[in-house]
Amino acid sequence: MTDPEVVLRATGLVKRYGNVVAIRESDFDIRAGEVLAVVGDNGAGKSSLIKALSGALVPDAGTIELDGRPVTFRTPHQAREAGIETVYQTLAMAPQMDIAANLFLGRPLRRGGVPGLLRMLDHGRMRRQAAEQLDALGIATIQDIGQAVGALSGGQRQAVAVARAAMFGSRVIIMDEPTAALGVRESHQVLELITRIRDRGVPVVLISHDMPQVFEIADRIHIHRLGRRTAVVRPSQCSMTEVVGLMTGALRIAEDGTVAEQRLGTPNRKEGHI
Ligand SMILES: Nc1ncnc2c1ncn2[C@@H]1O[C@H](COP(=O)(O)OP(=O)(O)O)[C@@H](O)[C@H]1O
Ligand SMILES: [Mg+2]
Repeated sequence: MTDPEVVLRATGLVKRYGNVVAIRESDFDIRAGEVLAVVGDNGAGKSSLIKALSGALVPDAGTIELDGRPVTFRTPHQAREAGIETVYQTLAMAPQMDIAANLFLGRPLRRGGVPGLLRMLDHGRMRRQAAEQLDALGIATIQDIGQAVGALSGGQRQAVAVARAAMFGSRVIIMDEPTAALGVRESHQVLELITRIRDRGVPVVLISHDMPQVFEIADRIHIHRLGRRTAVVRPSQCSMTEVVGLMTGALRIAEDGTVAEQRLGTPNRKEGHI
């Protein structure tokens, strides 16, 4: 059955690196209008999961659907063409280039001209659109669009990466630990940006370690453990301690939808939802 609210769905994803199983028959879904947090221990497979959704790796098995239609992404370019933008942990910026050039990295605007011939870059239009985009997202921390990205603070650089995703991501925006390297104030600015993007109608996948942050911003929490989604919960119906327990496997969601102790020696293969 297809749920009209689901924008991006994955079913039964598998990814192996030699003997390591990074994604173990995992499911995933994100719905219109939401911030979906993805939490899990180091090595649980969060980054691998979002790489599979954004074309940065090709899964060994499983299916992905966008707006109810099956899709196959063999490269990040194909996922971007479909409207899925990803902010990776490494940010992928050109430090010596300015902010405007980084916003249009890999897809620059060119002047009109004879089709088929190499047309000149339209720096003026890129600068204007870059400034408009930062303004629309309320990014006030950047004053000069002509500044080299290498000269920016960590938070400013993150803001540029998020602005770039928001500029081109029409269906889903995925962010892998966007605040991991930031201070409290800068983290808050990124969270505000995420809320603004969601309010503009584009759902956001947020991978984060920071439980208070997750509880502040997420509409639903996808809990990842040992390569697969083990539970999906709503922050309003669950405590941080319970989410951590589900993450580490100390707790499970019982048949009746309550959070219970994990029984020793029973591998929890069934997903729980509350
Ligand atoms: N390129 C790779 N080559 C080999 N093993 C990898 C690679 N990427 C991830 N892994 C392994 O897959 C597992 C999941 O990693 P990852 O998706 O990065 O988890 P997380 O983001 O939750 O920390 C880990 O055991 C990790 O060592
Ligand atoms: Mg990771």
